[in-house]
Amino acid sequence: MEKLKSIDIPFDIHKIRAEFPILQTEVHGHPLVYLDNAATTQKPQVVIDSLVEYYTQYNSNVHRGVHHLSQLATDGFEAARRTAQQYINAGSESEIIFTKGTTDGINLVAQSFAKAFLKPGDSIIISAMEHHSNIVPWQIVCQQYGAELKVIPMDENGELILSEYDKLLNDRVRLVSLPYVSNSLGTVNPVDLIIEKAHKSDIPVLLDSAQAIQHLPIDVQKLDVDFLVFSSHKVFGPTGMGILYGKEKWLDLMPPYQGGGEMIKTVTFEKTTYNELPFKFEAGTPHIEGAIGLDAALKYTQSIGLENIQKYEALLYQYAIEQLSTIDSLRFIGQAKHRAGAVSMMVGDIHPFDMGEILDKLGIAVRTGHHCTEPVMNFFKIPGTIRASFSFYNTFEEVDRLVTGIKRAKAMLS
Ligand code: ALA
Repeated sequence: MEKLKSIDIPFDIHKIRAEFPILQTEVHGHPLVYLDNAATTQKPQVVIDSLVEYYTQYNSNVHRGVHHLSQLATDGFEAARRTAQQYINAGSESEIIFTKGTTDGINLVAQSFAKAFLKPGDSIIISAMEHHSNIVPWQIVCQQYGAELKVIPMDENGELILSEYDKLLNDRVRLVSLPYVSNSLGTVNPVDLIIEKAHKSDIPVLLDSAQAIQHLPIDVQKLDVDFLVFSSHKVFGPTGMGILYGKEKWLDLMPPYQGGGEMIKTVTFEKTTYNELPFKFEAGTPHIEGAIGLDAALKYTQSIGLENIQKYEALLYQYAIEQLSTIDSLRFIGQAKHRAGAVSMMVGDIHPFDMGEILDKLGIAVRTGHHCTEPVMNFFKIPGTIRASFSFYNTFEEVDRLVTGIKRAKAMLS
């Protein structure tokens, strides 16, 4: 594995790291080792600059003014929509809805889709490895409409049991919603197969791609997925911004999620007619700088190349697993064959919070706890995990520092 450190790296990692100001900082007197990328990713200077440029040069509202600044802001905002469309290869700009993030996108689909299609006795399928944000919105609509929430189980490796999924599919299922990549286990689900099986019964599928968008190339037309959501801040852009992709054939049939400006065509006190897609789902002044920052972030990521990112991260992940395996009494939570991004673990019976605190003192940022996936923790009968989650700007040396840090913490806490 030593050799891997010097070969096969498809980009200049030092140049890339220099583009992220925060990666040059220190925490508690140590150079920062940022391994909490599943929670949020760091921002390159081009993203930060795009926000400053917007506020210093063309801050204005969008779609509302004929004046120069408003035109510039509208152009920037709509350019972001086209960039997002190209990034996931959506067929049309109308299928790209700006949201507040993944959670907002799921809530939008849950409320609007349920209003159009969910009846008493119907069911929605999710999986055993959901983030709370892909459980609670569906629980709410199932309660509202008298429907049932069904769960694809997983095995001890953190892989979904597809034979059980087959048994859940029937003509009362209205939608399947699941993560592309698990935030707490790192499992990359076989989404092609899951979508194919659902489509055989004419059931649409939503992919929570919050943990996939920064690691894998995504082509919504190739996947033939019906809805896909992600957050800007997980892909090097600003917080408070996200994308919902939906096939036009579904979005056209779904009612608006929220009422307000922008989503209307005409309003009288008696009656409102709604705007066309995508604006029908974008009530109110949007997060303009969020879109502009996301545009810069997606272009930046594309300039490095998703294939290059995937290749490098696979090497880094493999190295992390090999090195972490050398630690006595460390066990991985989630050992799916196909994983990306996050590595979850427990060390002996040390509480993850205690480990996290010591790692922090060493300048190493990991997340500890249930990672908003309490059912996953219940399944493994643990209070939480220590989760290291990687990005393309992380290095093999940082993995070494994590391993040394865990060994040191373990010696102090045992
Ligand atoms: N969902 C984010 C995480 O997994 C916040 O950390």
